[in-house]
Amino acid sequence: MTGALDVLRDEHRRILEVFDRFEQRSAASEVLPPEYLDELLAFVHIFIDANHHGKEERALFRATEAHPWLNGFALLLNEQHEEGRGLVRAVVCARERGQSGLAELRTFVAYLREHIARENEAVFVSIEQALDDLSGSDLAARFAEIEREVIERWKIAEPDEEHRSIADLRRWDALLVRV
Ligand SMILES: [Fe+2]
Ligand SMILES: [Fe+2]
Repeated sequence: MTGALDVLRDEHRRILEVFDRFEQRSAASEVLPPEYLDELLAFVHIFIDANHHGKEERALFRATEAHPWLNGFALLLNEQHEEGRGLVRAVVCARERGQSGLAELRTFVAYLREHIARENEAVFVSIEQALDDLSGSDLAARFAEIEREVIERWKIAEPDEEHRSIADLRRWDALLVRV
């Protein structure tokens, strides 16, 4: 099975790129523009949680159900997604209290970096070895469906971006600017 998981690896690269920019910006200044933080949180909710974790939870992890030891990994990763959601809620709560939420964001970013490393370096390789080509092609189709659903639900694509992947939408441009 090759290919299907590359979609998720590419998304990891996009997530890490956005995190790198965030860390550079927050190292340079303790005060970040609220519009930038709003966009970053939109990226976390839409791109990371609904889209990327949606593909993992609703398609990839389900595909491991017939492989008990792989499914054990999937359950662990799923729990980490839940823990990550708790860390994001802490960012939102801090901002609602009138605080910057930067410390909470840094905690979430560090947590998700580790999670992504675990997926890239260990779990995805094992899953690729265990799943056959047939389930690989099913996965690719399911990933595409989930991605369409997310793009339509949040209306994040411009009319001329119909054929772009969610990672390449202009919506995220402001998060990738080098400072
Ligand atoms: Fe994950
Ligand atoms: Fe992931």
